Amino acid sequence: MTSIAQRVLVTGGAGFIGSAVVRRLVRQGRQVLTYDKLTYAGNLASLAEVHNLPGHSFLQADICDGRAFREALESFRPDLVMHLAAESHVDRSIDGPGDFIATNIVGTYTLLDEALRYWRGLDAAAQKRFRFHHISTDEVFGTLGEDGLFREDTPYQPNSPYSASKAASDHLVRAWFHTYGLPVVMSNCSNNYGPYHFPEKLIPLTILNALEGAPLPVYGKGENVRDWLYVEDHAAALELIATRGRLGESYNVGGSNERRNIDVVRTICAIMDRVVPDAKIGPRDALIRFVTDRPGHDARYAIDASKLKTELGWVPEHDFESGIEKTVRWYLDNAAWWEPLKARYNRARLGVAK
Ligand code: NAD
Ligand code: DAU
Repeated sequence: MTSIAQRVLVTGGAGFIGSAVVRRLVRQGRQVLTYDKLTYAGNLASLAEVHNLPGHSFLQADICDGRAFREALESFRPDLVMHLAAESHVDRSIDGPGDFIATNIVGTYTLLDEALRYWRGLDAAAQKRFRFHHISTDEVFGTLGEDGLFREDTPYQPNSPYSASKAASDHLVRAWFHTYGLPVVMSNCSNNYGPYHFPEKLIPLTILNALEGAPLPVYGKGENVRDWLYVEDHAAALELIATRGRLGESYNVGGSNERRNIDVVRTICAIMDRVVPDAKIGPRDALIRFVTDRPGHDARYAIDASKLKTELGWVPEHDFESGIEKTVRWYLDNAAWWEPLKARYNRARLGVAK
């Protein structure tokens, strides 16, 4: 454990990636404040392992509420803010971009404004220690053709309301570093998967539908490629970037696990046929349905993570095969986590622009 970043405020800490970060930091003995509005995607059950430990506290608050964030900074006195709170689902951003503009852009601006005020009020030693880590996505870079990888200097070309809102937030963070000197680090990651993933996203949706024998929707021809990273490997990368990354720099994070969507879905079907065969359902790949494509669907994402590996020594522990097997088994063993989510989302199709 490093001696820096003993007090960490994590926005979005009740979400998928945020909760993995919080669980990791609390296990390490750091003091963590989870700051989360608890939208449909936020879930305190994802923090059950650490929720009542002395190292963890929780505040239900909106990142657009500057006063609430100011009070949280003043009372908790963090030396690190890790900002993960966001509206995160591309399909929902197509149906309703307003929440994405509010949370991802205005919310990030609000945090920067208050973090700058807080940082300016710290003594010199505390100012030197303080960092604001903005967590973002590879979707800001747009889409790749058959070749090439996203690097940190790839031009931004976001294509969905979600990615445009994240791109805007990245630019704001960068501006607060260059203009006001706020000590920031940034990271852009590829698709995460693993435990506690809300079942609106491809992998958990496929696992739960396959378990019930329900249709498995694959957008378009299923040929779009994503670069999959196991969520706990991302959490480890985020800890390194937050504590050791160079100020003002951004780091790309990705698992070098490019897969076509149709192959991801078929892999899940094969694991489930082996682990939970069901004679009534039969072979699960017969449940696959090619459905109307996502509007503006990016063809391919793939990350060059060599900066993170070379500078900070990050090495992911999971490849896609080990990670997906672990993930399927986690969902099979943790119905108590996902059953209650049916009341929030019934797995109906989202994001078909009218
Ligand atoms: P998620 O949707 O699972 O969780 C988001 C969390 O933020 C939830 O707990 C929600 O309650 C909270 N939140 C939303 N609006 C809020 C607000 N206004 N105020 C306070 N809290 C609010 O998202 P995730 O998949 O864990 O993503 C976390 C971050 O990582 C996001 O910034 C996302 O853009 C980024 N990211 C995600 C992925 C991925 O594959 N999931 C990949 C790269 C980057
Ligand atoms: O690349 C990082 C991004 O990955 C993050 O910034 C986002 O927050 C995160 O949600 C994820 O975005 P995607 O749109 O890639 O994830 P999703 O799971 O929604 O979709 C993955 C791929 O699968 C995508 O090409 C669309 C497709 N898809 C998705 C769903 C939900 C289907 O074919 N069928 C589906 O039912």
